[in-house]
Amino acid sequence: MSISSLTITKPDDWHVHLRDGEMLMQVAKYTARQFGRAIIMPNLKTPVTTVAIASAYRDRILAATKDYSDFKPLMTAYLTDTIDPKEIIKGHEEGVFTAVKLYPENATTNSSHGVSDIKKVYPVLDALQKIGMPLLVHGEVVSDDIDIFDREAVCIDRVMKPLLKDMPELKVVFEHITTKDAADFVIGEKRVGATITAHHLQINRNDILVGGIKPHFYCLPVAKRELHRLALRKAATSGHEKFFLGTDTAPHSIHNKENACGCAGIFTAPNALEHYVQVFDEENALDKFEAFASLNGPAFYGLPINKGQIRLEKESQQVSKVIGQGELSVLPYKADETIGWRLGVD
Ligand code: NCD
Ligand code: ZN
Repeated sequence: MSISSLTITKPDDWHVHLRDGEMLMQVAKYTARQFGRAIIMPNLKTPVTTVAIASAYRDRILAATKDYSDFKPLMTAYLTDTIDPKEIIKGHEEGVFTAVKLYPENATTNSSHGVSDIKKVYPVLDALQKIGMPLLVHGEVVSDDIDIFDREAVCIDRVMKPLLKDMPELKVVFEHITTKDAADFVIGEKRVGATITAHHLQINRNDILVGGIKPHFYCLPVAKRELHRLALRKAATSGHEKFFLGTDTAPHSIHNKENACGCAGIFTAPNALEHYVQVFDEENALDKFEAFASLNGPAFYGLPINKGQIRLEKESQQVSKVIGQGELSVLPYKADETIGWRLGVD
């Protein structure tokens, strides 16, 4: 059946990098105009490690999104080897922290303060399972002997399985999964959910590397071979309760992307919902889109679903070209390309 528009409960984005300062002011509106809530990543240059830093950052986000007064940023704490479990508990009690983020040391952008050995943060993880707060894991093992395309699969055996065994109550989000291995693993584990990005549903590693290197398709975890992309599409469009929307929108200036040592991160926020719904349309699974975008995430976090609705129209439009200038210039994912859907405005 051909459909011309789709109305669903207002969705949430369970993985967003909004940055800070002028970049925050420039990019936050794209997330706020589409989503009810967003999980805000804590990997600022000075990572978000305390309740005070998080609530000041939340205020700056609210100022940057004041035109969208219903938008609610959900803050996360950045786990370091030395963070005090009391700070996490305090943030939970004061309603500041919604989740805690685990970056392996030096895995990705601004992760030099990340965790060097997960055992070092076991007291914090124990506190999390007691208060029922999810741990968000950047699921890659970063070590010189592991090929970058294998980092995520290796993480399942080396990190995820021992973690779940040692912390029998902990809720875990396996973030931005990129492999069939991770999708299969998540389905089999009761306490594990996963976010999936729009770009990992649309591109494979050939898109990054064939016919010249495409820095704007480079992110971490890096896109894998086609069989993995197909497995992710199957997982997302199945409507399975363990999979939910998380864009991992991660703006970097064009200068920092188109560089001899280009940064990892794809700026998907401007047309995030449209990219996702395109995939569900191609897979004849528009009836599963609401579960993935608006229902499964809140259910996993134990939060209510959003009150409002949004409408997506099957109508083509052009993704914008460059946004901003100089060090603030960013290129949206699929800049200047035509896409088949448009967010409705009332
Ligand atoms: C993110 C960033 O730029 O902050 N980059 C990315 O490639 N996804 C960090 C991250 O989530 O790994
Ligand atoms: Zn991210």
